[in-house]
Formats: sequence, structure tokens, C-alpha cells
Amino acid sequence: MEIIIVNDYAQMSERGALAVSETVKKNPRAVLGLATGSTPIQTYRLLIEQCERGELSFAEVRAVNLDEYAGLAAEHEQSYAYFMRKNLFDHIDIDLKNTHIPSGTAPDLQAECERYTALLAQMPRDLQILGLGSNGHIGFNEPGTPFSGRTHVVRLAESTVRDNSRLFDRIEDVPKMALTMGIADIMDAKKILIMASGKNKAQAVYNTVKGEVSESCPASVLQKHNNAVLIADAEAASLL
Ligand code: GLP
Repeated sequence: MEIIIVNDYAQMSERGALAVSETVKKNPRAVLGLATGSTPIQTYRLLIEQCERGELSFAEVRAVNLDEYAGLAAEHEQSYAYFMRKNLFDHIDIDLKNTHIPSGTAPDLQAECERYTALLAQMPRDLQILGLGSNGHIGFNEPGTPFSGRTHVVRLAESTVRDNSRLFDRIEDVPKMALTMGIADIMDAKKILIMASGKNKAQAVYNTVKGEVSESCPASVLQKHNNAVLIADAEAASLL
């Protein structure tokens, strides 16, 4: 894994945006694997600005998202579908028909996971963007998830519910279940870019880079990928 340490969130985001824009300029029909959370927000802002300046076009880009909360409709303000529209899709020239995210309100979540797994098989990712959970999760693959997994329904770890409760009015409102791309799906991407910012990610960054490759830290699997890059800011990299 290539490790890039930068000063702060702003620099991390610049590097993140550069990786995406390079991928899209090289292949205007690229398939991007996208993430939600606080980590990629500024990366997405920078991409929006490039698009507004006419330097970048997503007109033919296809996007597949990592995960979604079970039970939240796409219109729900805390759903990841809503997040993606608000923080990226509504402000760039991507065709919404080319954007995909698991449905949290499908009547049969198991069938939805199977549909998404089949979709991913047809859309190999040129670049997968990842954030990092404070417990080392990627997507919503919590510690203990088998590396061989495809899209599946998960019960969120208590620490994840706690971490993510900052975005909800009350902790009780945070869904306890989610649908997520599996680790095998994530590892299929040609290139993976994982970004981490802030002190609360320092232990997870350490375990990802220096720990043994183990299901107890899902992101440690990236050590086995042949084109994975970690961009961490100084605080997130402070234990390396
Ligand atoms: C969330 C998401 C992940 C995200 C991670 C980090 O639970 N499911 O896709 O990468 O946790 O979130 P943040 O970037 O807000 O720290």
C-alpha cells in the first residue's frame, strides 16, 4: 500500500480530488466507487468546482456507492442516496441514471443485495474511494466481516452507531442495520484510495497499515491490494 501523509483535511481532499479527476480524464466512461461520510465531502466540493469551471465532465461517468442504511428511503435527509445528491450529483453533469446505490427500502433486502452484487460484477470499478471507520471498517464492513463477502445486510457496531449519531437528532434515530458492498467487491477495484483525517482515525490508520492483515481490522485487507493508496492527514497518521 502506498502511504501519503499530508498536513490536513484540505490537502487530503486536494489529493483525493486529483485521483478522481485523473481517472475521469483518462477514461471519461470510468466507473467510480463512491463513499459517503465526512471524509470525502471536500473532495466532492473540489470536483464540483472543476466541473463548474468546465475542466472536468462526469457526463459519461458511472458511479456505484458503497452502502446505505436499511429502512431509510432515498428522500430521507440522512440516507446516503440523499447525501450523494446533495454533496455531489446535483452539482455535476452526471446522468443520475448512471448512479447506483443499494436501496434501503427494498421489500426484500436479501434480494436487493443479490441485485447489487450482480450489478457490481458488470461494473468493475476503475477507482474506489473509501473512508475509514474509527474501528477500521470500510463501507459498512464491520470488524469480523469475512474478506470474501459480497454485498450483504449488516448489523452496525455500537461504535459505528455512536460515531454516526452526530448526524442525527437522536442516537435512537440511527438505523441499526445497513446494506454494504462486501470486502471482495471493494477489492475488485483496479485502484483503491482510502482517506483518513483527524485524531479519532489514528488507531484505525495504524492497524490498517502496520497491523496484521486480519478481519478484526477490515481495512487491513488493503495491504493485499496491488494498487491501494492511503492518504492520511498528520493527525490520522500520528501513530505511524
Ligand atoms: C461510515 C460509512 C463509511 C465511512 C465511514 C467513515 O459509517 N459507512 O462508508 O467511510 O463510516 O465516516 P466519516 O468519513 O464520516 O468519518
